[in-house]
Amino acid sequence: MTGKLIAVANMKGGVGKTTTVVMLAEALAADGAHVLVADLDPQASVSVCLAGEEILGEMIAKGRTLEAYLALKLIRGEKPILAPRIRGNVSLTTHRGAPLALSLLPAGPYLRLVERELIYELTGKKFSMHAIEEQLLRMFHDDIVPLAATYDYILFDCAPGISPMTEIAVRAADLVLVTSIPDYLSTYGLDAFVQTIWRSSPKRRGPIAPKRLPHVLVTRYQQQVRQHQSTMLRLEAEASAADAGFVLLRTRIPQAAALSEALMPREATPTFSGKYGPHVSGILIPLVEEVKGVLRGA
Ligand SMILES: Nc1ncnc2c1ncn2[C@@H]1O[C@H](COP(=O)(O)OP(=O)(O)OP(=O)(O)O)[C@@H](O)[C@H]1O
Ligand SMILES: [Mg+2]
Repeated sequence: MTGKLIAVANMKGGVGKTTTVVMLAEALAADGAHVLVADLDPQASVSVCLAGEEILGEMIAKGRTLEAYLALKLIRGEKPILAPRIRGNVSLTTHRGAPLALSLLPAGPYLRLVERELIYELTGKKFSMHAIEEQLLRMFHDDIVPLAATYDYILFDCAPGISPMTEIAVRAADLVLVTSIPDYLSTYGLDAFVQTIWRSSPKRRGPIAPKRLPHVLVTRYQQQVRQHQSTMLRLEAEASAADAGFVLLRTRIPQAAALSEALMPREATPTFSGKYGPHVSGILIPLVEEVKGVLRGA
């Protein structure tokens, strides 16, 4: 099994998680990788960005989503198959004359309800919360992790907050990218997120400890904003402390219209370089190299 699992997460909402998943997935695919994007967010943002409303609507109606899979498997006790719920070749973006090799395991709007229902159902059967987490973790290891034999990277777009699926993905991933806007409130939430997952005391630790420290990726960076400058200095100091709770990536994603527009539906099929323009060499290639370096243990 060679593929790597990358979770993009933060307890805070609206800090560029989905934008990062789309950019990184497309950049890795343009680099020649086969990439699966798994949507763990009931907002289904990355699903609609990649598949478009029509195809996603069809997939939800036919139960071809992660939520339907989880409901059948863990609540109804059936034996659903995950593979037909993955849609290949979802990207409209082309590179060197061919569509990017992107596949999608979509979420639907009821994912949160399914996660909650699962907890009610299993606690009703006198399962402890610990046992429920173990069931989810087992499902993740039995059904999702083996997909790493087929894909070079599996990217998880996590929901804001710490949902059961987010918690499992973050603990099972080879790399967790915590996206954060460099301002006071976004980084305040960052501390709470890192404390909750990475620094919980052994007695209260979840089923498995994350594989490595979280890697903070600064997003929507505005060099000219004083609050961003001072927050960057603080993050750099915190990341270089001996007991640092996170690693700070060198690449910073700037605030840029082209990056937020990259997520909008398009009529035509854009090229990768047309879509991201100068950000390909300025941000995306350095980000891919940095992520590959971390995963190699460099
Ligand atoms: N680098 C950027 N430059 C400009 N706008 C951006 C950038 N990154 C994200 N945005 C915008 O910020 C908003 C939130 O981004 P995004 O949806 O990626 O965040 P999120 O963390 O996934 O949110 P949620 O917590 O709701 O899932 C969107 O409107 C997006 O277009
Ligand atoms: Mg999102």
